[in-house]
Amino acid sequence: ALSASAATEMPPLPDVTGDKVQADGDFKIKFSIGTTESGAQYRGLEYFEKIVEQRSDGHIQVDLFPGAQLGDDREATSALQAGTLEMTMPSTSPLVNMFPQFAVFDLPFLFPQPEMADAVLDGEIGQQMLEDASSQGLVAIGWGENGYRQLTNSQHPVEKPEDLDGLKIRTMENDLHLDIWRTLGANPTPMSFAELFTALEQGVVDGQENPWITIESSKFNEVQDYATETNHVYTPFITLVSARFWDRLPEDYQALVRDAATKMGDYQREVSRTLNDQIKQDLKDSGMQITELSPEQVKVFQDQLEPVYEDWRDEIGGELIDDIREQV
Ligand code: PAF
Repeated sequence: ALSASAATEMPPLPDVTGDKVQADGDFKIKFSIGTTESGAQYRGLEYFEKIVEQRSDGHIQVDLFPGAQLGDDREATSALQAGTLEMTMPSTSPLVNMFPQFAVFDLPFLFPQPEMADAVLDGEIGQQMLEDASSQGLVAIGWGENGYRQLTNSQHPVEKPEDLDGLKIRTMENDLHLDIWRTLGANPTPMSFAELFTALEQGVVDGQENPWITIESSKFNEVQDYATETNHVYTPFITLVSARFWDRLPEDYQALVRDAATKMGDYQREVSRTLNDQIKQDLKDSGMQITELSPEQVKVFQDQLEPVYEDWRDEIGGELIDDIREQV
């Protein structure tokens, strides 16, 4: 049988537009991400690399490190702060200890449509968050999407919260995610993404949750027979640069890197959305049993999770939650 990844074709990289940029010096960007080479995020990074290398005429060299080989989202972010790595693009969720406002994106069922996430991330709220996250040794220069998270497990189909009873679910290192799965009756445990495949394979955990594209590109379907299309959380990616590197970069190159990050984010979201349904189909074809929930079934999960909004209101800031809920 065809493996899921073999069936899915990445769209071709767009052409590079924009003038060449000249500035003094030669620079190297090591860019690390948690997801693997066959995912949409990596495709976005390839576009970033192409833009930056072409428009700097090779004076900025970009090297890509997918699959958490230089560390998971948290470790890569720490490496940026230490100045040993130039760029990374983590999910916002593992960074809430540094930027508590990011927890707003972990609220269940916050964005019914991806365009609503775009409006918030690319609008005033998102821009303010990038400014706020440009601190603690980091410069935040753009958004992308990890996307809507889906549940997978090795035990049985999950159609309703009761089916989660006692299931050991790996979550990102994020207390709100732990709260979500506890509230639903599961037994969640936070774990670095770098350890996840082995933990699933060895049965240390029964399940995990990530977007279809990450489930496929990390081959979780090889160790997880069941999936449920829960769409329970939409996770953004945030593009981060080491402040130590940034401060050495001539202004014209800073502008180039910023522009390339914006284009990468737009393109990466487009690829992620184009491939989402196709990859769900590939996963089915590869033998994964996927439960698609009716709106009524989704509402059961949603209603059970409503208390999470109250529990986290003070921590995240009620005004921010209300601002976003008004827009969606
Ligand atoms: O599950 C996670 O930890 C994240 O979704 C991932 C895949 C590392 C992307 O940031």
